[in-house]
Amino acid sequence: MAKTESFRASLDKQPREVASMFDGVAKRYDLTNTVLSAGQDRYWRWATRKALMLRPGERVLDLAAGTGVSTLEFAKSGAWCVAADFSRGMLEAGRFRAVPMVAADGTALPFADESFDAVTISYGLRNISDSDAALRELLRVTKPGGRLAIAEFSTPVFGPFRTVYMEYLMKALPRVARAVSSNPDAYVYLAESIRAWPNQPQLALRIADAGWSSVKWRNLTGGIVALHRAYKLG
Ligand SMILES: C[S@@+](CC[C@H](N)C(=O)[O-])C[C@H]1O[C@@H](n2cnc3c(N)ncnc32)[C@H](O)[C@@H]1O
Repeated sequence: MAKTESFRASLDKQPREVASMFDGVAKRYDLTNTVLSAGQDRYWRWATRKALMLRPGERVLDLAAGTGVSTLEFAKSGAWCVAADFSRGMLEAGRFRAVPMVAADGTALPFADESFDAVTISYGLRNISDSDAALRELLRVTKPGGRLAIAEFSTPVFGPFRTVYMEYLMKALPRVARAVSSNPDAYVYLAESIRAWPNQPQLALRIADAGWSSVKWRNLTGGIVALHRAYKLG
């Protein structure tokens, strides 16, 4: 499908459509995130770095890293962190960041088995057409005993808050995106894809089914985001 000024992927997440959609939001991606999340994105990234328990010198893969905004946060630990993403537009928009970047598809990673101490993906798994294949690829490239951390939009746990949040997601968020983003239709996709995404225990089961051990999660901002952690058996 041709890329237009305002373009969104469909919920079956055809890889070419998804890459093209992110190419279209790349220019104002970081700013739009901060506006739509009312600044919470920074706290969520900090919490993801803490959950990864990174040490200086470790090798870390940040999959679906987009502009590298997440990778830069993880690199504060002193670990060597590489950003991988299949949207060249997103990588290009983050070129100014001093992190190594690789164009790569998360379902067929160009890395050797057992090459990373930790692997992570922030707000990317939901966008990967075959997210179970990506979870298996992440496991393959992780060293035995290595860690996984996934930050992803999830389901607020408190009923009344969930209702208000869903209203924001489906009605207000696309309107705000129209004022800020370079591709507002992508944010209609964002809202719909969050609504269709598995909740916390469902995602934990999928992570375990892909071969990961000791899967746990914690909720951030009442469950707007869930931070799932797991290990590769040593
Ligand atoms: C919402 S952005 C997240 C960017 C960044 N991790 C962050 O925290 O802001 C999702 C990213 O997933 C990437 N993506 C989707 N499917 C992918 C795949 N199969 N392989 C690699 N990247 C993928 C998109 O190109 C996009 O940059």
